[in-house]
Amino acid sequence: MNNVDELIQQAATAFEAAVDGAQLEQAKARFLGKAGSLTEQLKGLGKLPPEERRAAGAEINRAKDAIEALLEARREALRAARLLAQLSAEALDVTLPGRGTGRGGLHPVSLTLERVEALFRSIGFVVADGPEIETDWHNFTALNTPDNHPARSMHDTFYLEGRDDVLLRTHTSPVQIRAMLAHVERHAQAAVMPDVRVIAPGRVYRVDSDATHSPMFHQVEGLWVGEGVSFADLKGVVADFLRKFFESDDLQVRFRPSFFPFTEPSAEIDVAFMSGALEGKWLEIAGCGMVHPNVLRFGGIDPERYTGFAFGMGLDRLAMLRYGINDLRLFFESELRFLTQFR
Ligand code: PHE
Repeated sequence: MNNVDELIQQAATAFEAAVDGAQLEQAKARFLGKAGSLTEQLKGLGKLPPEERRAAGAEINRAKDAIEALLEARREALRAARLLAQLSAEALDVTLPGRGTGRGGLHPVSLTLERVEALFRSIGFVVADGPEIETDWHNFTALNTPDNHPARSMHDTFYLEGRDDVLLRTHTSPVQIRAMLAHVERHAQAAVMPDVRVIAPGRVYRVDSDATHSPMFHQVEGLWVGEGVSFADLKGVVADFLRKFFESDDLQVRFRPSFFPFTEPSAEIDVAFMSGALEGKWLEIAGCGMVHPNVLRFGGIDPERYTGFAFGMGLDRLAMLRYGINDLRLFFESELRFLTQFR
């Protein structure tokens, strides 16, 4: 074996002995580095007689190529070994059962809302809505609510700092005005105006908080305006709705005289179940009445020709009764143990 083959052999052994990148780099320095064996030999070339230099140089180059190839091969082998070790360390046990995907569901108030909408759609109502940050004009003025009305006080209504023309709507009734104005505009060219028949569900806000009152709650407004619409229609529509909603004929509905600035006459709607846990107890679920002529006028509708009724139902209250829930706050605490019961 000549000198060069021996050197290649030594390099092969040294590289093989290196178990990681650092050791391999050290071994490389011994052969290919500045003070390495090959470099030494290159330096030695000058001392050879000219006729031997060519052959010796070629030999050294052969050694250099061979050692570099060995080095690259060992590098690749170490890299592969590292990858293999990593793969087996991070191995997935595909036989483990999965975590499962949670099944979501609708909030009980949303379920109730869907039910209310479906029932009113079935008798020709359309769903309308309006902004939760409402103008003072839509929320109060156009609803015939005078400046000194208690509902306008700071204790009852959330106002916005630095703005006295807007507030968080205290009820869904401002949508009555918006719906009438939009309806009149839409049918401006019609020979006969079709009836206004809308329900408007949504969030409303009042400064109020206990087991049966939350500062944010939900209402569904109903409005039917047309020629000859009467209080009897109001009673029929509401009573029919309630029997369908609660899936029970075992239910009494009572209209108790009341007052709202935007209806005349006005009433409170109570229901009583004839069986079950709440048997015989009157529960208030809505305010209602015949739309006040001033309100029709604000809505662009002639009160000499048209009449209408409106109601505002407590959606949360309906949900509580339907599902037998006794604390309104449960709806808004995002407690999954409560919410998952409804999916
Ligand atoms: N807006 C009234 C309330 O929030 C309810 C209502 C609506 C009364 C429509 C009459 C007509 O109490």
